[in-house]
Amino acid sequence: MIQEMDFIRYLAAKKSVDDRAINSHVWETAIQALSAQGQAPLRILEVGAGIGTMIERLLERGGLRRVEYTALDEQPENIAHARQRLPVWAKAHGFHVQQEVDGALTISRDDIRFRVCFHHAEALEFARQFAGQYDGLIAHAFLDLFDIPTALAALLPALKPEGLVYFSINFDGVTILEPAVDPELEDQILALYHRSMDERQIRGRISGDSRAGRRLFAHLRQAGVQVLDAGASDWVVFPGAQGYPEDEGYFLHFIINTIFQALHAHPELPGERFERWAARRHAQIERGELVYIAHQLDLCGRLEKKLVSA
Ligand SMILES: C[S@@+](CC[C@H](N)C(=O)[O-])C[C@H]1O[C@@H](n2cnc3c(N)ncnc32)[C@H](O)[C@@H]1O
Repeated sequence: MIQEMDFIRYLAAKKSVDDRAINSHVWETAIQALSAQGQAPLRILEVGAGIGTMIERLLERGGLRRVEYTALDEQPENIAHARQRLPVWAKAHGFHVQQEVDGALTISRDDIRFRVCFHHAEALEFARQFAGQYDGLIAHAFLDLFDIPTALAALLPALKPEGLVYFSINFDGVTILEPAVDPELEDQILALYHRSMDERQIRGRISGDSRAGRRLFAHLRQAGVQVLDAGASDWVVFPGAQGYPEDEGYFLHFIINTIFQALHAHPELPGERFERWAARRHAQIERGELVYIAHQLDLCGRLEKKLVSA
């Protein structure tokens, strides 16, 4: 059965999973490099920003003080939700929030001041219009949806010379579900699911990479980015004594449903057995039994000056 799922609730539920997964060493390297840029304010572009949880994370974890933040997403409902959610979150966390006449939000506390502009826009088109304007580019759980060389060619010119990139939660080819359910079929399901990421087409073009994480090293080098740091950022979702934390049970239902939708009516899968597999996985979540691991990588880097001017 295909369930009607709520993408905004999924993104909200994903926040606590991402908070645990984000590689702290890569995060520290990225924040230190950004804060050493010496620009005030720092201009950051985040593409595929969803409901704005990365802004919350940056405010929560600290390290950046004066920031002009552009957050864009192609889904208008995500941007509308981010505009409502961020002020509520910021006030609840002791920030002062001011709504500017141009629609921007200024969020401040002590010496921290973020001016956030939300845009409903397609990322590659948007970046092409703002060449050389940003000190930092963030893409979180985003680049693995694209043909990465094409995405980098469009996004990187938005950076100033020696601008910084922080690309986190890039899927890297391994999905683990425990305890086992119909293991022989499941191996086939996961192989086909990963293949579906590689064969995905958007606007008639191949778009997606099930091994985005490991391939980013070469893609970044070819695009003129020096990798400053890299590390694993695996999602590891498991039930504790009180079940799954926060809304992570919903996150798991969404993941199983995504796999089911991607392969529904696939000619290489036995339909009824596949439906039984999905139903058993959903039931495991309800009972607080399922453990889910997805291997991912975080990378940060710096655009090399010589290649920008070449
Ligand atoms: C997996 S979600 C991640 C969202 C957010 N970064 C997070 O982790 O919560 C990917 C996001 O990218 C957005 N997106 C996908 N393709 C896009 C494009 N071409 N331009 C702008 N946004 C896009 C989607 O609408 C979605 O919100």
